[in-house]
Amino acid sequence: MHHLSRDASGETHRRAIAALVDKHGRRINYVRLSITDRCDFRCNYCMAEEMIFLPRHEVMSLDECLRVASVFVGLGVNKLRITGGEPLVRKNAMWLIERLGAMQGLDDLVMTTNGSQLARYAQGLRNAGVKRLNISLDTLKAEQFRQITRTGSLADVLKGISAAGAAGFRRTKLNTVMMRGVNDDQFIDLVRFAVDNGLDISFIEEMPLGGIAGRSRTYISAEETRARISECFDLSLLSETSGGPARYWKVSGSESRVGFISPHSHNFCDTCNRVRITAKGELYPCLGQNDVVNLLPILRSKLCNEELRQAIVDSMGIKPFGHDFSSQMESPSVIRFMSMTGG
Ligand code: 5AD
Ligand code: SF4
Repeated sequence: MHHLSRDASGETHRRAIAALVDKHGRRINYVRLSITDRCDFRCNYCMAEEMIFLPRHEVMSLDECLRVASVFVGLGVNKLRITGGEPLVRKNAMWLIERLGAMQGLDDLVMTTNGSQLARYAQGLRNAGVKRLNISLDTLKAEQFRQITRTGSLADVLKGISAAGAAGFRRTKLNTVMMRGVNDDQFIDLVRFAVDNGLDISFIEEMPLGGIAGRSRTYISAEETRARISECFDLSLLSETSGGPARYWKVSGSESRVGFISPHSHNFCDTCNRVRITAKGELYPCLGQNDVVNLLPILRSKLCNEELRQAIVDSMGIKPFGHDFSSQMESPSVIRFMSMTGG
């Protein structure tokens, strides 16, 4: 991207401002930063029952997270999503979030959370400048919630959702992973819950990450769910997109939007505007591919950020055009768990 500027003599120059553009011409302005691979839940589509988490020294320090973020912002990134695992189980997460909230040029600081700790942190997040929250919620039935999350408590999450509203968060979005025979009896109730509480909701097709077997039996397409929801709610398609894989529909008579995230359809790769950073400092240009750039050794060998900046700029050359999920439902070629790349 170029900016026209004038110097003291009035002459016009083309001044290149930092911008990340990949080799397919897509402008990258959005980073998803995982600050921990740990979580207090063990959602069965996300984790194995016995997870081995990273040893502390392989995880970026909060200071390292901040450096990575500031280099991206220096390169024109203006939106950052904090993810995990569950970001709020990271010790001193608020230290980082407060600094990100105050960072010049970072206009849109958002977070994805499972909501379990929100009753405690919602106000602090709001005060720190977090703009919006995505909260995972697959069911409103306590027992089903326990089965899906293995360790989670629905009551805590519901308290967290109200705390977010009380703290002033608006347009909070629920994320629901669709699983046939598991939570598909809940989709209508979840939309009603969203409408009653002024929330948005996105239904997500299950993605083949992390080698969890048997997913094609629980797979439900976004299209099927949308058709079922339209039998109870009047939905009208919204044209705006966030550059992401979601299509949003407005529920008439309410402020709520219902999104459908369909990673299996290829229609969003051409407007992809994002990259992901794992808790161990790996930069994944694409969620659905194994290409990776390891930033941690660079962070740890050099105190100045020039090499880090260069590695990030160079990573634009390996961002693939698109993913290949559809052929991988039973034998995934992407072997990371979602808790590594943070969704
Ligand atoms: N497929 C789809 N969504 C997933 N999530 C975690 N694992 C998967 C998967 N395999 C979602 C969670 C959460 C977000 C971080 O990612 O529901 O909303
Ligand atoms: Fe934790 Fe979210 Fe994974 Fe569930 S989906 S185990 S809440 S990181």
